[in-house]
Amino acid sequence: MDAIEALKTRRAVRTYTREAVPREVIEDLVDCGRLAATAINIQPWEFVAVTAPDLLRKIAEVTDHGRFIADAAACIAVLVRETKYYLEDGSAATQNILVAARAHGLGACWVAGDKKPYAAEICRLLRAPAGFRLVSLIPVGHPAEQPVKDKRPLAEVLHWDRF
Ligand SMILES: Cc1cc2nc3c(=O)[nH]c(=O)nc-3n(C[C@H](O)[C@H](O)[C@H](O)COP(=O)(O)O)c2cc1C
Repeated sequence: MDAIEALKTRRAVRTYTREAVPREVIEDLVDCGRLAATAINIQPWEFVAVTAPDLLRKIAEVTDHGRFIADAAACIAVLVRETKYYLEDGSAATQNILVAARAHGLGACWVAGDKKPYAAEICRLLRAPAGFRLVSLIPVGHPAEQPVKDKRPLAEVLHWDRF
């Protein structure tokens, strides 16, 4: 699958089969994440790839809209050092991982971290050092659904030269 197809066909996938995801694939997703755009190339991120079922369950239970994390093969936590552009940097890395997952034929979903009251509890569960913010959680697995989403058409959102 080429990059344009992966970008255009990526959708949030929240149900997964029980099929395992090889460690090398998870590594490649994080590799794509760490290569994202980042303000002044500071690269303030760390990625925790969770595969232990009991920890996946605990993380899922702490979230409000991420209970399906418990059924994922892995969940990548994007932790970003508190820098001026931590949220933009972490979001860029998150989007790279979502698109890379799609390109690998996997399903993934951006589960909110930043601004959520449970972010601190997840940082504690993952033993993140002080000064790191949880930007997102990304459960990953083989898709058991093919979601269809209404998207605003290009003609509605694209403005040439002036708004
Ligand atoms: C910042 C952010 C936070 C999100 N948080 C959640 C979440 O906590 N749980 C969830 O199921 N989906 C979450 N999503 C996924 C969105 O619901 C999803 O991207 C949106 O409905 C558009 O669908 P699509 O990704 O299939 O295009 C989040 C997405 C973003 C960008």
